Amino acid sequence: MLRKSIIAAAAALVAGGAAAQEPVRIGLVLPMSGPFASTGRQVEAAVRLYMQENGSTVAGRKIEVILKDDGNVADATRRLAQELVVNDKVAVLAGFGLTPLALATAPIATQAKVPQIVMAAGTSVITERSPFIVRTSFTLPQKSVAMAEWAAKNGIKKVVTVVTDFAPGHDAEKWFKEAFTKAGGQVAAELRVPIANPDFAPFLQRARDAQPDAIFNFVPSGQGSIFIKQFVERGLDKSGIRLIATGDLTDDDILNGYGDAALGIVTAGHYSAAHPSAKNKAYVEAFKKANPGMRPNFMSVGGYDGMHLIYEALKKTGGKTDGQALIDAMKGMAFESPRGPISIDPETRDIIQNIYIRRVEKQGGELYNIEFATIASMKDPEKAAKK
Ligand code: PHB
Repeated sequence: MLRKSIIAAAAALVAGGAAAQEPVRIGLVLPMSGPFASTGRQVEAAVRLYMQENGSTVAGRKIEVILKDDGNVADATRRLAQELVVNDKVAVLAGFGLTPLALATAPIATQAKVPQIVMAAGTSVITERSPFIVRTSFTLPQKSVAMAEWAAKNGIKKVVTVVTDFAPGHDAEKWFKEAFTKAGGQVAAELRVPIANPDFAPFLQRARDAQPDAIFNFVPSGQGSIFIKQFVERGLDKSGIRLIATGDLTDDDILNGYGDAALGIVTAGHYSAAHPSAKNKAYVEAFKKANPGMRPNFMSVGGYDGMHLIYEALKKTGGKTDGQALIDAMKGMAFESPRGPISIDPETRDIIQNIYIRRVEKQGGELYNIEFATIASMKDPEKAAKK
């Protein structure tokens, strides 16, 4: 009897030892190719930087990141996520550069009970599609409501909205209008531009014809340069019509290439490379050093903070990778990000963060989003409204 239990204990020890040596695998699924590859590059760079700064062992477990390129094709995202779970036995799925890609993966997270960390996509509904989703990016309603309230208080009475025609654009359009009309403003027209090979020119003409005080814009990260080019080509920068937008338009990855036409654009966003904190200064410096020629943008911080969340959750579980235990550990977690203070809403698993109102200005010869007002600790307005 005694002998048997000694053998059993020894066997358990060996099994435990072997398990402890297995790395914790994180499946990172991103658009590394195709029109939204800049999002993939930014998030991957930030994930690698976080590991470079914090080491690749947490709670005695080695961390291994397996990167997969979905090329912005939802069927590929779903297949890759499935393979990562089944073949590679990943403990966490992470990344997700656009809403359709995050939504395609949600059923896999639910079925496999594997946490899905949404580091980049921004449609409100994503976190409701699986109890295993946690978001470290942002929601479009956060930015759009903040922009609308600022506009209404700053002499803008009539607006035309011009958004990209897919889920986050619909969120931006809806929540801008909701908050702007509530504050006494008027939305004269709501225009939607196709996401593939966008031609903004006819929409900008229609917007101009409505003679608004301002155009409110949302474009996904990476498409801002085409919008600005066509805005200037149509002479709208000299028309007296103001340009306001979510921070996606004045993306730090490409902003500096816009030229002086971008000066004065006011946006609402959660991250600026010019955010004046010690944490962010160190982040920008380290990011640039590790990725010459690149400036971290708002997508990058979703990757950086997502890794922090995973590391801290593993510390709390003592290195255990049970999906529900990791999700429970992430709920309510609060820490300082390069963007400012953030936390994970324990009820919705969505991000609570400051939204900043910023103006494009030149500093040291480069264009930056300079923050001048803060809406502190904003929850996702769409979820707040459902309560
Ligand atoms: C999204 O697909 O959710 C998305 C993509 C790019 C953005 C914002 C949202 O800049």
